[in-house]
Amino acid sequence: MCGIIGYIGKKQAQPILLNGLKRLQYRGYDSTGLAVLDDKGLRRAPSLRIKKRAGKLNMLETAVAKRPLKGKLGISQVRWATHGVPNQVNAHPHWDCTGKIALVHNGIIENYEELKEDLLKQGHKFRSETDTEVLVHLIEKFYRGKLEKAVQQALKEVRGAYAIAVISKDEPEKLVGARFGSPLIASVGKEEGFLASDIPALLDYTKEVVLLEDEEIVVVTPGSLVVRNLQGKTLTKEKVKIRWDVAQAEKEGFPHFMLKEIHEQPQAIRSTLMGRIAESKDEIVLPELKSLEGFLASMQKIIIISCGTAWHAALVGKYMLESNVRIPVEVDISSEFRYRDPILDKKTLVVAITQSGETADTLAGLREAKTRGAKILSICNVLGSSIPRASDAVIYTHAGPEIAVASTKAYTSQLAVLYLFTLYLGGLRKALSAPKIKELILELERIPQCLEKLLESKKIILECARRYYHSFGFLYLGRTLNFPTALEGALKIKEISYIHAEGYGAGEMKHGPIALINPRLPVVCIAPESRVYDKMLSNIQEIRARKGIVISVATVDDKRIPHHSNHVIYIPKVKELFSPLLTVVPLQLLAYYIAAKRGCDIDQPKNLAKSVTVE
Ligand code: F6R
Repeated sequence: MCGIIGYIGKKQAQPILLNGLKRLQYRGYDSTGLAVLDDKGLRRAPSLRIKKRAGKLNMLETAVAKRPLKGKLGISQVRWATHGVPNQVNAHPHWDCTGKIALVHNGIIENYEELKEDLLKQGHKFRSETDTEVLVHLIEKFYRGKLEKAVQQALKEVRGAYAIAVISKDEPEKLVGARFGSPLIASVGKEEGFLASDIPALLDYTKEVVLLEDEEIVVVTPGSLVVRNLQGKTLTKEKVKIRWDVAQAEKEGFPHFMLKEIHEQPQAIRSTLMGRIAESKDEIVLPELKSLEGFLASMQKIIIISCGTAWHAALVGKYMLESNVRIPVEVDISSEFRYRDPILDKKTLVVAITQSGETADTLAGLREAKTRGAKILSICNVLGSSIPRASDAVIYTHAGPEIAVASTKAYTSQLAVLYLFTLYLGGLRKALSAPKIKELILELERIPQCLEKLLESKKIILECARRYYHSFGFLYLGRTLNFPTALEGALKIKEISYIHAEGYGAGEMKHGPIALINPRLPVVCIAPESRVYDKMLSNIQEIRARKGIVISVATVDDKRIPHHSNHVIYIPKVKELFSPLLTVVPLQLLAYYIAAKRGCDIDQPKNLAKSVTVE
């Protein structure tokens, strides 16, 4: 997730672009840049001036403070890297070989490698490692003096997601934007016009915007805008009135980043899967693993290390890898792993899972594993962070920046990568047949849609939050793939509501936790359709027999669970293997609404930091 903004008008562009970037920082913060068309007056031809910096916005602000980029047309971006590490070269804007056209982009170009290969053959020179740069060279390829036409032709060749803003020094009177899968809005005022990823960037200038839809191209000139589709047909667009203030707008109207991020999960999973499934749907494409392919085909053991929520993802990973790839998998909390003298060798793959890529214990564990000869693969959300840099290979989650301290979309995106990795390994090691892989891929692709459905209705969750927010404790029970879901549900409520909670494998009930059951204890039972459904149902009956309060998470149309539960939250029907991607969401929401009722500081719970960089 990155943020882009463009300006055209009578004022100086730079201060407006910098102000917009400040408002968009929540969308990314690893590098920034801007391009301004320097109109040096009538006597000299205008030229594009570009300034970029790695790091936060203040680095760019310092860079342009001494020698401002003067001009009234410009584009800029805050980046959240997905392809190419977050450095100055990879920061946006990118420009074409002639220095005529500059572009900023939010999204992922899936087919950038093929496009780049063709463009290189045609003589284009690339400077960065980004997927974005192919776009500007493609536009250059089609440019015959009409920027809009060239953008239209270029986008027809592109697969993936994009919101772009483009300018050309040969057409200083226009700002061109387009979108597919990534948000873009446009607005015009008196003798000026704007493009932006999101409303906060424009709130200081306008309260009326046009929301662009997929495959629409907009040409903004001072005081007017025209929207056409990719076929060139002019479209009539309504203006939307904005009633939010800046803080509300950054959260897209959600009261907290955590709730926004819970709702971003369908999109985060889509982005994580994007470009990694072959068009034939029977193969997972992970070019990032190419250099390890021989090793992955013959390795003998996997150890997954991680902390907190990422450790829960690892536990789900163990179930999916062992049952589908038939390879032994150990899972360790990083801080235990690094001090326990683990048994591993050159035939071991150590997988480090981390949202931030900076967790000190995971980094130390990985280094320990390296000294013992293991190969390291990381699964990470922050491009270019320390853990991926210390790994032999990395598969990035594309969840976008996670701002709330309690992890939600990073968790489900980590699971999505683990599914991809499982199916990839299943194919590579011939543990899964091609038809089986296809069947599972098709199911995995259905998940974002199922999540959207699940997020539509929160009635029962709100009811449970209202009734039980005063509870002294919570118990969470699950089995097999959903045992880690129980741990994650308990962690979420502990973190943000400060209510004591325990997560248990339901089979362990009789070995201790059953003593806790009483008429005031809510017990969340994760019981979707599965091989262990009947076992879960027996556990639920045991709790009811002791007068515990049962909140069940079950598959839609389940006829038996309601007879034994006080409340049932339904999830859409999916294959058992993928149920952890759905069952966790009601638990995130339950924790969220309980914390809200208790008046807790949800996005920044006490004593917690987003990234734990000390031991
Ligand atoms: C829980 C949470 C933490 C992190 C843990 C690991 O909501 O956010 O438990 O999961 O600190 O952090 P990363 O994934 O950055 O290594």
